[in-house]
Amino acid sequence: MTELTQAPDPGTPPPETAAPRAFRTDILTLFPGLFAGFLDESLIGKARARGLLSLHLHDWRAFATDKHSKVDDAPFGGGAGMVIKPDPVMACVAAVRALQEAEVGQRTPLVLLSPAGRPFDQATARRWAAGPGITLLCGRYEGFDARVEEAADELVSLGDYVLNGGEVAAMAIVEATARLRPGMVGNAASLGSQRGLSTAAGANPDAVEESHGAGLLEYPHYTRPRVWQGQEVPAILLSGDHAKIATWRREQAEARTRERRPDLWAAYAASRPPPPAKKGRRRRRKADSGDEG
Ligand code: ADE
Repeated sequence: MTELTQAPDPGTPPPETAAPRAFRTDILTLFPGLFAGFLDESLIGKARARGLLSLHLHDWRAFATDKHSKVDDAPFGGGAGMVIKPDPVMACVAAVRALQEAEVGQRTPLVLLSPAGRPFDQATARRWAAGPGITLLCGRYEGFDARVEEAADELVSLGDYVLNGGEVAAMAIVEATARLRPGMVGNAASLGSQRGLSTAAGANPDAVEESHGAGLLEYPHYTRPRVWQGQEVPAILLSGDHAKIATWRREQAEARTRERRPDLWAAYAASRPPPPAKKGRRRRRKADSGDEG
């Protein structure tokens, strides 16, 4: 007898153990071979094997229509280098969007990677990790025709330097974003190690207390041996006093951030609530006291 699959009662909440939905990542590139090791090794490889990350590479040269599969052309107005033509890459974007609609029922943000974009940071990783996925568009040559940039939802740079293309940036972005997804980080304790620091909203609650999670760099870590080449582990870490250790770690994180990243420190300091006003008798104003001079 054939069993009928029952439609779930719409009033029943999903079981607590329901697996997190896979984070959909589409990468559009002329060099898919660059991603070979990246896709299968380490955390990304495991996440794909466990169905937490669904990663798709698309070679947009396949969408070129001329007989030489040309994807670039000389710039109007003259100048050095070649510019990526809009047609093949946007035909690939359209095909990827159709796949996304069919497979996950929605399209993901189209992110164009370019040294002229807004710098990628932890807050951006958190924002994307909270969504269904990302579509990363990797450039080469002098850059994309400006009309491709117009079609993108965001333009993002890995940093203030020029790479040969967007592929290395895409790998960094996938790694930084995917690891914030629920179920992704194997060692939750290693991410939650800066207890006591303020937390910010994120998709994976374990991942908000590492470097940048609270707007601070992480405190220093030590392991065995206790003395290495004459350098001792700070005594406080051996004290067993967890409250004091937490205070020391916070101070270290603040001192490192102040010293190494004045930009982060300024933002952190500005976002902290002002210290509570000191209690005690208010000083009388000179005029009230009748004192002269
Ligand atoms: N392509 C070339 N340089 C880049 C950068 N710094 N960030 C992102 N994509 C790039």
